[in-house]
Amino acid sequence: MTKKSIILDCDPGQDDAVAILLALASKDDIDVLGITTVAGNVPLNLTESNARRICELAGRSDIKVFAGASQPLMRKLVTAEWIHGKTGIDGADLPDPSMALQEAHAVSFIVETCLAAEDSSITICPIGPMTNVALAMMQSPQIIPKIREIVCMGGAVKELGNTTPAAEFNIYVDPQAAKVVLESGVPFTMMPLDVTHKALVTPARLQNFKDLNSPVGNACGGMLDFFNRFDMTRYGFDGGPLHDPCVIAYLIDPEIFSGRKVHLDIEVTSELTMGQTVADWWDVEEKTPNAYICDDLDSDRFFKLLTSRLALL
Ligand code: RIB
Ligand code: CA
Repeated sequence: MTKKSIILDCDPGQDDAVAILLALASKDDIDVLGITTVAGNVPLNLTESNARRICELAGRSDIKVFAGASQPLMRKLVTAEWIHGKTGIDGADLPDPSMALQEAHAVSFIVETCLAAEDSSITICPIGPMTNVALAMMQSPQIIPKIREIVCMGGAVKELGNTTPAAEFNIYVDPQAAKVVLESGVPFTMMPLDVTHKALVTPARLQNFKDLNSPVGNACGGMLDFFNRFDMTRYGFDGGPLHDPCVIAYLIDPEIFSGRKVHLDIEVTSELTMGQTVADWWDVEEKTPNAYICDDLDSDRFFKLLTSRLALL
């Protein structure tokens, strides 16, 4: 597998935090060019400082972290403190960051990094609302040929939504941004709730993180202890779904996952179904497929990879 140069766009969030750690622990597979942050799970002032906290936890204060959009393109920001806690990474108990936030705006970083790159060389991984990525594409469409692939966490195809009955959080918060990115023509790979709801942090898997007996393992154990409780209560799962690290694991070992290339569209008009990801899974309309959507994974292989990589930090 060739090493991927990525921009990780996130809204930490406990699951974003684990995704950042997995990426930083996988130097042979992934070169993190920068981490851009967006308002989502919690407001931007927290998502950006949480990203820096996690980089320092990983011993990577060299990573460039940028603050981006503080609200969606056209809608009022909706946050998710009821799941993530008031800090966004409750359960981690990390000190305030000492590494500096980059002065440039996240959108400027995305634009300038892509413009300076070879064609089809940059993988952008949105694991929060896609506001920053959409703004970069609208501001500078010349970046589009530079992007190898968008690999995102978001959406719900055969699963119901987790924010409304129709919509998953990342897409619901900024559906217009998601549509801009989907329709950009960049190869689009999506990890929806259909697959992330099979990546459950069961008690045994949670214990494996804690048994690492390291600052990273302890932080992940604490964060996921907190993060697990909501979805286990709501869905009766045997663990909380570990959404965002699925994106990074896909970059490292895509064979862990399976899915289908289908035609996808996103609802941006009806308030009732705002942000719904409408995938023609059975090709009934025979439209040209425009997205690769994962709906299954080998969860033991996923957690084995994740735990073994976190052990390296
Ligand atoms: O719906 C789950 C997604 O929304 C995850 O990315 C989580 O971090 C939140 O951003
Ligand atoms: Ca997220």
